Amino acid sequence: MGRMVELAEQIQAACAAIRGGWPGTPRVGMILGTGLGGLAARIERKVAIPYAAVPHFAVSTVESHAGQLVCGELNGCPLVAMEGRLHYYEGYSLQQVTFPVRVMRALGAEILIVTNAAGGMNPHFDLADVVVIEDHINLIGDNPLRGPNDDRLGPRFPDMSQPYDRGLIDLARQTALDLGLSCPKGVFVAVAGPNLETRAEYRMLRGMGADLVGMSTVPEVLVAVHAGLKVLGFSVVTDLCLPDALEPVEISRILEVAARGGRRLEQIIPALLAKLPPA
Ligand code: HPA
Repeated sequence: MGRMVELAEQIQAACAAIRGGWPGTPRVGMILGTGLGGLAARIERKVAIPYAAVPHFAVSTVESHAGQLVCGELNGCPLVAMEGRLHYYEGYSLQQVTFPVRVMRALGAEILIVTNAAGGMNPHFDLADVVVIEDHINLIGDNPLRGPNDDRLGPRFPDMSQPYDRGLIDLARQTALDLGLSCPKGVFVAVAGPNLETRAEYRMLRGMGADLVGMSTVPEVLVAVHAGLKVLGFSVVTDLCLPDALEPVEISRILEVAARGGRRLEQIIPALLAKLPPA
């Protein structure tokens, strides 16, 4: 019981600090993945709040992640964006990794948009492709919902028959099509990292039915579904993970490709926000 009360209180304390800096009510919470921070620069009437200024937020350690909440509007839609996410491989617990999602929900968000840089295992994918996540597999070996459940925050056994909202998936693909961009769907598998996979592992993951692999996203989506948020997820394919033609990856190259895909996301996401059905 103590831990549940504590989580609810921590969420309220974080909300209060954010409201002190930004008085808005977000409709959307957004998490910007590795190399995909460019969207944050497009947010209007913005207030940036460093994670360090929010009680109970962990601070991101990865260089390619800025570590601030950017609050404001994108195409008229009020939102809170995480510029820089927290990863399990940095040493955080999954409760720490997903705490900001709880806070976004408590601030009033109804929709979570998650983005990530991912390895593409589907041979039809190209570098810098934007792929809409249609389902996921959790291979992290841990779960952010492990431990006592606070029934005020969500159910003990959350349903996962449709974690990614069908209507939002269709809207994303139609929006991309209208912009002349292709936007395939894919199944995302999350691994703990920080190493990339061996050929044998890519072969196994592909055989399991995954199209994309990455070191994030699934924990945040589990908590979002638990909390009753609608979820939309995008991966940018930053490296091609074909076991029989695998080449060593360089992180600098991954970031470069992520930036290319990021420019596509910067077209798709604002256009999509303008088309959201009324709340
Ligand atoms: N594996 C895991 N995570 C990743 C990859 C990958 O190939 N590419 C980008 N993130």
